[in-house]
Amino acid sequence: MKIQSPQQTSMRDTALEEFILESESMRSILKVVHQVAPFDVNILITGESGTGKEILARIIHLLSPRAPHPFVPINCGILSGLLFEDKLFGHEKGAYTGAVDRKKGCFEIAHNGTLFLDEVSELPYDNQVDFLRVLEDFRFVRIGGSDAIQVDVRLISASNKNLKALISEGEFREDLFYRLQVVPIYLPPLRQRREAIPKMLDHFMERLVIKYRKPKPAIAPEVLDIFLRYDWPGNVRELKNLVERMFIVNERELIRPDDLPSDFLWHFADPPNELSLSEVRRSAETRAIRDMLYRTRGDKDSAARILQISPRTLRHKIQTYGIRVGRDGQPLE
Ligand SMILES: Nc1ncnc2c1ncn2[C@@H]1O[C@H](COP(=O)(O)OP(=O)(O)O)[C@@H](O)[C@H]1O
Ligand SMILES: [Mg+2]
Repeated sequence: MKIQSPQQTSMRDTALEEFILESESMRSILKVVHQVAPFDVNILITGESGTGKEILARIIHLLSPRAPHPFVPINCGILSGLLFEDKLFGHEKGAYTGAVDRKKGCFEIAHNGTLFLDEVSELPYDNQVDFLRVLEDFRFVRIGGSDAIQVDVRLISASNKNLKALISEGEFREDLFYRLQVVPIYLPPLRQRREAIPKMLDHFMERLVIKYRKPKPAIAPEVLDIFLRYDWPGNVRELKNLVERMFIVNERELIRPDDLPSDFLWHFADPPNELSLSEVRRSAETRAIRDMLYRTRGDKDSAARILQISPRTLRHKIQTYGIRVGRDGQPLE
């Protein structure tokens, strides 16, 4: 393996600077990352979408002796059948209609580097066995080729699904799982490390100042308060995108809650008035009694008869509901 050049060292330092920790859970994760990165163990990163799985995989690569070599991400969700093999193993010229040139697959491109298998839960079941076979000795043949190619890659996989559950449902191979997950790393959702939000907000804005050459606005405490209360189902990605939207349209020196996009503020709209059953009954009975007294021109005995209650019950309801009607049953309010 090559020694890291000053350029690689600076790439690594930048990646680490870009990665905001600010919470105990994240600091202990980074500690594990530093421990395992230099060794060629396979790592499986799990966590909800947007929690930083890919950025963490890049950091692991940059902290490893493989840093001078490629980091090759591959989304397993979009591949099946021949397309999958083509993407991973490449093809020889003329291997199939449309294969006009020899093309390297991801395994070859990632030689000496790291292959990042994103959304690994989506690997089609039928392809999982072929895949596992290649992981045994990292030897394969390009489509339409005859010579076996040997590569040296480190695997980092990521999943936002629970692979153990998929195994029990028969959708993911257990042997493949244990091959991929030598070291598991779980990234908690942003709502479980809210203490990082202020720092992230500030960090993303600093980057946007450079990107869009606009001055950095101040953030009202109420805005920060909203951010700290929100659950962020899209995690860091959602926060980053919201800050960018907010930053681009903003023309003020101070961003207040009113300046947040309205679709975001909807999450905080007051819930509709929720009525208890007794309140529902009270309002419906009030309306029915008022209408009936109007129809009977204030004749309570007739109203009670039509409503099929006793005159006494009617008087009681009129009193407790505070129903006021005028002469001839005219509604008063
Ligand atoms: N801890 C963090 N500090 C700074 N940026 C982060 C952090 N975690 C995630 N991001 C950013 O959030 C976005 C989503 O992260 P990504 O790694 O693609 O998530 P995932 O792969 O889990 O869906 C990226 O733009 C990434 O740079
Ligand atoms: Mg991702």
